[in-house]
Amino acid sequence: MHAEAFSPADRWGASAIGLLAALPGHFTLLATRGGDPVGFAMGRVAAQEAEVLTLAVHPAARRGGAGAALMRALMTAAAQRGASDMFLEVSEQNAAARRLYARLGATEAGRRRRYYPDGSDALVLRLALSPCGAAPGA
Ligand SMILES: CC(C)(COP(=O)(O)OP(=O)(O)OC[C@H]1O[C@@H](n2cnc3c(N)ncnc32)[C@H](O)[C@@H]1OP(=O)(O)O)[C@@H](O)C(=O)NCCC(=O)NCCS
Repeated sequence: MHAEAFSPADRWGASAIGLLAALPGHFTLLATRGGDPVGFAMGRVAAQEAEVLTLAVHPAARRGGAGAALMRALMTAAAQRGASDMFLEVSEQNAAARRLYARLGATEAGRRRRYYPDGSDALVLRLALSPCGAAPGA
């Protein structure tokens, strides 16, 4: 799923994903449609801060709401684990993901210059979590 969703330079191997999923404080969510997997997301919580590690929706399943549903579920899961804020990095070139995060209420918290293999900057975004994990907007 990750390999289908990301360009070769940004793909993570199955073993790396498996190792991350098993680490303390990490959690993985799967989106399905008709019983078939269409996307997944991984996050982690340390103290009151959560981080989105990855979010991937299969190209054939996009624009069907899976990405937004996964993000909302990640926010809920992080809030239930005690986080008050969730951070993530997104390429400034990634218009689809930036729009999705903006609709969830994300605000820019920083920038990492030339962070990605293609030389693009990463925007660091912050999502404020409500105690029940509800997100405003989208
Ligand atoms: C980003 C990604 C997860 C979105 O998944 P998705 O299931 O298509 O997203 P949704 O259908 O839930 O879309 C929610 C909103 O995001 C925005 N959005 C999603 N795809 C978009 C696109 N191609 N162009 C513009 N806006 C887009 C829209 O506002 C959309 O709402 P709308 O359909 O009502 O207009 C998916 O495109 C993906 O896996 N991309 C490759 C991996 C990636 O970039 N991950 C994020 C790394 S930070």
